[in-house]
Amino acid sequence: MPEAGLTARPGGPLRGRVRAPGDKSISHRAMILGALAQGETTIEGLLEGDDVIRTAQAMGEFGATVTQEGEGRWRVAGHGRYLAPQTVVDCGNSGTGVRLIMGAAAGFDMVATFTGDPSLRTRPMMRILRPLGEMGASWLCREGGRLPLALQGGALSGISYRPPEPSAQVKSAVLLAGLNAEGVTEVIEAEATRDHTERMLSAFGGEIDVEDRNDGRHIRLAGGQRLVGAHVRVPGDPSSAAFPLVAALITPGSAVTVEGVLLNPLRAGLFVTLQEMGADLTIENEREEGGERIGDVTARHSQLKGVVVPPERAPSMIDEYPILAVAAAYAEGPTVMRGIGELRVKESDRIAMMAAGLVANGVGAEEEPEGLIVAGTARANHRVAGGGLVRTHGDHRIAMSCLVLGLGAEHAVAVDEPGMIATSFPGFGALMAGLGAEIG
Ligand code: S3P
Repeated sequence: MPEAGLTARPGGPLRGRVRAPGDKSISHRAMILGALAQGETTIEGLLEGDDVIRTAQAMGEFGATVTQEGEGRWRVAGHGRYLAPQTVVDCGNSGTGVRLIMGAAAGFDMVATFTGDPSLRTRPMMRILRPLGEMGASWLCREGGRLPLALQGGALSGISYRPPEPSAQVKSAVLLAGLNAEGVTEVIEAEATRDHTERMLSAFGGEIDVEDRNDGRHIRLAGGQRLVGAHVRVPGDPSSAAFPLVAALITPGSAVTVEGVLLNPLRAGLFVTLQEMGADLTIENEREEGGERIGDVTARHSQLKGVVVPPERAPSMIDEYPILAVAAAYAEGPTVMRGIGELRVKESDRIAMMAAGLVANGVGAEEEPEGLIVAGTARANHRVAGGGLVRTHGDHRIAMSCLVLGLGAEHAVAVDEPGMIATSFPGFGALMAGLGAEIG
């Protein structure tokens, strides 16, 4: 059934202090490692979006006891191994969920069958099946390495693997499989990607070695390790914090603080880029929490200028290009984003969807095979025309980005499938309304 649309109307300034929802990447990993570990894992601040809830349910299928104890508070009792699921594991919209779970499951002698929603069923799985196959796993899947897919794991051997594309999901899948492989498993990353799996493995008692060498980052672990349950405090998701922060940057008179945002440098590329564009962003109350650096980030309305984003920064802001494209639309001069071909295989083809969404709202945008160039509209009045309806292709980040686009525009911006926002940011509408945004 088609979902009702949502419209963002230009209005007054955005003001206030909010907390970002829990980090999606860390929430998935807390569930997946909790179920792999022996004993009890307690989680605080879990993101209760659809993607993570699917992973929680999947962990139940793999034999763990997963219980919600309060808002964001969950308990996972694991057996120190995965047990064969009795039914098809449906990971919904989540590439992270399915890829990491497949990696972890490959370590055990069992068959597990995976599927997902129409978007996930179009996404490439060969990127993890290739290394898992080298390790000794086998599978049957649809043409082109698409879900649904049945995976036979067990009797794996460690490999040394250089992912051809920078991908924390591929790295994590190989490392999680390596936990139950014979010998040492190594992943060599030409460009470092988010390191939550490595950090969390250590927190669960795993031994993992990370070394930066001339040819990249070498991450190694020995097979046959046993993890033990741990306590995980999930920090605020910088990828979600980006929406209210950019909304404040583009809406005159605004000042918004998002508290408790993860500041891991491998996730903070958007903040660096916005500062280069002239954004008034300040970070206060920096502290360590649960082994990660976090802080309170304040954004005030700013005159932005277009920049060339260094392609090597892409892994640290891969999910933030859609919202960066919105900031770019309000900047003076073009913003050039290159080396982002990976955006074409996310929940939607994000290069195509953002270009179309911007053009539908009077902003010049040019697609390249692996890039996007946005013509900034800022002149005297600092405004985007708006007035368009954006097709989101079921992509939560396209929906939220284009709603933010409407907040500073001359005319309202509508999106067609806002229901998908709940995959990563269930309280988005209420949080934005609390800051003064007119979204409804
Ligand atoms: C993620 C890695 C990234 C990112 C995704 C979350 C993770 O994907 O886009 O939203 O938690 O490991 P890739 O590894 O495909 O780049």
